[in-house]
Amino acid sequence: MPENSVDPKHLEQLQKLQNKYDVMGQDLSSYLDGLLYSDYLTYWDYIHLDTLLSLQSPKTSFPDEKVFIMYHQITELYFRLTLLEIEQIAFHENLDEKFFIERIDRIIRYFRHLVSSFEIMVHGMEKAQFLKFRMALLPASGFQSAQYRLIEISSTDMINLVAPHEREPMQEYSDLGLQLEKLYWRSGATELASGKKTLTLRQFEEKYLKIFLETGMKYRDRNIRKLYLKHFRDSPEVITRLREYDTLSNVLWPLAHLKSAGHYLQRDPDDIKATGGTNWQKYLPPRFQRVMFFPELWSEQEKAEWGKAAFEKN
Ligand code: HEM
Repeated sequence: MPENSVDPKHLEQLQKLQNKYDVMGQDLSSYLDGLLYSDYLTYWDYIHLDTLLSLQSPKTSFPDEKVFIMYHQITELYFRLTLLEIEQIAFHENLDEKFFIERIDRIIRYFRHLVSSFEIMVHGMEKAQFLKFRMALLPASGFQSAQYRLIEISSTDMINLVAPHEREPMQEYSDLGLQLEKLYWRSGATELASGKKTLTLRQFEEKYLKIFLETGMKYRDRNIRKLYLKHFRDSPEVITRLREYDTLSNVLWPLAHLKSAGHYLQRDPDDIKATGGTNWQKYLPPRFQRVMFFPELWSEQEKAEWGKAAFEKN
């Protein structure tokens, strides 16, 4: 190609750009000037690195508090990824098995990572530091993770998130607001002595309850369980994956988390009080919560032993 002549490929691209900008009544030449003057993109600007690294504001000067904050933030980012996948499944225009499986596989990978990385919490902080800096965080608790609740609400029907003793008498198709009243985590977060709602719960409800109800309505007919029942009920490949997702999110992650609580808060003769004020030994174990996103995928025996075998191994 002679020097100074324009590559025909670039001319073709220019023509396409011209068409694109014409449609919107925009002047291509001005946009090309903008391109000429703008800086090259850098990695640090693209991922907002400075902002990301400025988001840790400890309440004390114990260095391990930063480990605690950052691991929570990492978890929230994985929760965010999970919610993005669920949204793509739920609102896909032509949902087929391939797409459904690919996205559930992504969610499984996120949760596998969350379960295995929890050892960062169990072994990665000095207990003496933790027991001090946690007092500066009262009454905040991971219990107030809204994304965790949104994953639950968009994965299954609200009835499966109702407290176990209230689930049976309540109908699957009863009022969503009524089911929301009885969610397992709302009845779990009460003060032992008075039976009153903990402050942690009251604050959480005030900020998020409306969003949880809206999300429940949004996903009422298109949560992961509903879509499975509607389209993929007979697919062994889908069933295997949903069983793994249920196990990871409702048994293995809660157990990895419980191990952390046990490591830092278990003490003879009295256990240390949780920052969120729950009776955590009775509240956190999956064998008491009995949350299953896809109850029809488990035999009566598997349901009866929910969280038990894995608990004994831990
Ligand atoms: C040393 C580490 C941790 C300890 C000791 C701990 C302790 C607790 C305790 C005692 C509760 C019960 C609620 C309360 O009374 O506060 C709880 C709930 C919870 N925590 Fe943690 N936690 C730890 C790390 C994490 C991390 C890294 C996350 C990630 C976001 C997290 C998320 C949650 C969630 C979602 C709940 C509610 C669980 C449910 O309702 O079933 N926690 N935590």
